[in-house]
Amino acid sequence: MARSIDITKDRQQAIEAGCAVLGAGFPIAIPTETVYGLAADATNPIAIAHIYETKGRPRFNPLICHMADLAMAERHAAFDPVSRALAEAFWPGPLTLVLPLKPESAIHSLATAGLDTVGIRVPKGFAGELIRAFGRPLAAPSANTSGKISATSAAHVDADLGERIRLILDAGASTVGVESTIVKVEDGKLRLLRPGGLPAIEIERVAGQKLLRSKKASAAIEAPGMLASHYAPGATVRLDATRVDAGEALIAFGKTSVAGAEDARIVLNLSQDGDLAEAAANLFDYMKRADASGAATIAFSAIPDEGLGEAINDRLRRAAAPRE
Ligand code: TXA
Ligand code: MG
Repeated sequence: MARSIDITKDRQQAIEAGCAVLGAGFPIAIPTETVYGLAADATNPIAIAHIYETKGRPRFNPLICHMADLAMAERHAAFDPVSRALAEAFWPGPLTLVLPLKPESAIHSLATAGLDTVGIRVPKGFAGELIRAFGRPLAAPSANTSGKISATSAAHVDADLGERIRLILDAGASTVGVESTIVKVEDGKLRLLRPGGLPAIEIERVAGQKLLRSKKASAAIEAPGMLASHYAPGATVRLDATRVDAGEALIAFGKTSVAGAEDARIVLNLSQDGDLAEAAANLFDYMKRADASGAATIAFSAIPDEGLGEAINDRLRRAAAPRE
């Protein structure tokens, strides 16, 4: 059974307890601005193996390694002028850079899945403080069973993984609500591997170049672990709904009305005002609530495919993809 510590009540105790479990080689759930992470010492293969075991991941995918700051990141990965400019502009924040791994890095190959690159990000707030206190990078995928909806609160983590982990550090709801944007830096060019909490256009503005976008087939190779069917609720998901059938759940967006809404089992609106940041923050929680309503189908209104809408639509397409 997981012990839970509210970091707003006792930050120091949370850091000490967190470091103790991490130091013993076990994963813990940590809050980040994007989603909750299942974090373990990225230099300890046993600890990393526990992550895969806890999530029930079918295979070893490279994990994002979280750093306290750019200085720590530079001990593990090679930055070029473009990646350094992005790190300086957006860290701490919801951006992951896939960079060449330095040979002297202590990050274990189980965290990088044996690649010669490493996905690195510097999370905001408490997670950064925890890593600084721990002194080593933390490998952390989202804190959910493999293939299920990511957790954006300690309660989500507890409901899913509570029986399998020792400690949950609770900082309330994640403010961004979708995972980080992943960009691979190769020969000064930037490739978008996963849309996420930092809109692509902001990255393009700082980098002064367009992001290359992977075609569907190659995306699987570029970002192993991004299976087509992912973020799956128990219910079937239907996208771009303009009407909802009786008994279905409706997750709407903005003020556009949806026919049949009065007979829906549950109606939730990601953002009445059509604010994509608010919609991203609500996304996974509302999917869980719609799922818990017992509806066999969740119908989603269309979401504009701009800014954070790109990440939201990516997650929705995966939730709607045929299951294995
Ligand atoms: O917001 C986030 O990024 C969350 C929070 C907890 O920080 N973390 C997260 O981590 O989503 P994870 O491990 O689930 O994301 C891993 C993704 C996978 O799709 C993986 O393929 C890609 O990052 N990735 C990691 N390292 C990579 C590498 N060296 N090359 C290509 N893709 C990589
Ligand atoms: Mg995940």
